[in-house]
Amino acid sequence: MKVRILKGDITTQEVDAIVNAANSSLMGGGGVDGAIHRAAGPELLEHCRKLRETTVRDGLRVGAAVATPAGRLDAAWVIHTVGPNRHIGQVDPRLLASAFSESLDAAVALEASTVAFPAISAGVYGWDPDEVGDVAASVLARKRWPEIEEVRFVLFSDDVLVAFRHAFDAAGVEYSD
Ligand code: APR
Repeated sequence: MKVRILKGDITTQEVDAIVNAANSSLMGGGGVDGAIHRAAGPELLEHCRKLRETTVRDGLRVGAAVATPAGRLDAAWVIHTVGPNRHIGQVDPRLLASAFSESLDAAVALEASTVAFPAISAGVYGWDPDEVGDVAASVLARKRWPEIEEVRFVLFSDDVLVAFRHAFDAAGVEYSD
C-alpha cells in the first residue's frame, strides 16, 4: 500500500473512494461534509436519506463507516464516517482510529483500490491535528489492508499537512507527497 500526504481539496481527487467526515445524521453539514455534498450534487443527499430510511435508521454511530455512490464527483464512492467530537467529550482516540479503520474496511468491501481521507475530527469536532495525524499513522501502521493500492491524506491547510507529516515520520510509516 502506497501512502500519500498532500495539501489539496478532497473533492477534486481522482480516486475510487472519498471519505467524508460526516455527522451521525448523514444529512450534510459544513466543512468537508459541505464541500463533498456541494461537489457531488443533490443525489448524494438522496443516497444518504435512503440509508437513514433503511440500514442506518438511528444515525451513523461514531467510528462507523457507510458507503454511497458519489454523484457528480470523479470518485465512484463516498465513504461516510463520523469522527469523535471533542466538544461533547468524545476524547477516546480509539473512536477516531475506528473511523479510519472502518473506512478502510468499507473501501476493501467496495473493491476500491485508491482512497482519499480528510483529517477527520480536526475541524468542527475540535481535535488537535497532531493527534489526528498520530491516530491516522497508528492505523496505517497496522498494514491490515493489502488490497488497497493507495491511501492519500488530503489536507486543507499547511498546519495540518505538517502535523500529518510529523506524525507519520514519528510512527515510521513511509509516505510520499
Ligand atoms: N478538502 C479537504 N479537507 C477539507 C476540505 C476539503 N474540501 N474542507 C475542509 N477540510 C478539512 C478541514 O480544514 C479539517 O482539517 O477537513 C478537516 C475536517 O474538518 P471538518 O470538515 O470540520 O470535519 P470534522 O472536524 O470531522 O467535523 C465534522 O462538521 O461539517 C460538519 O457535518 C459535519 O457535523 C460534522 C462535523
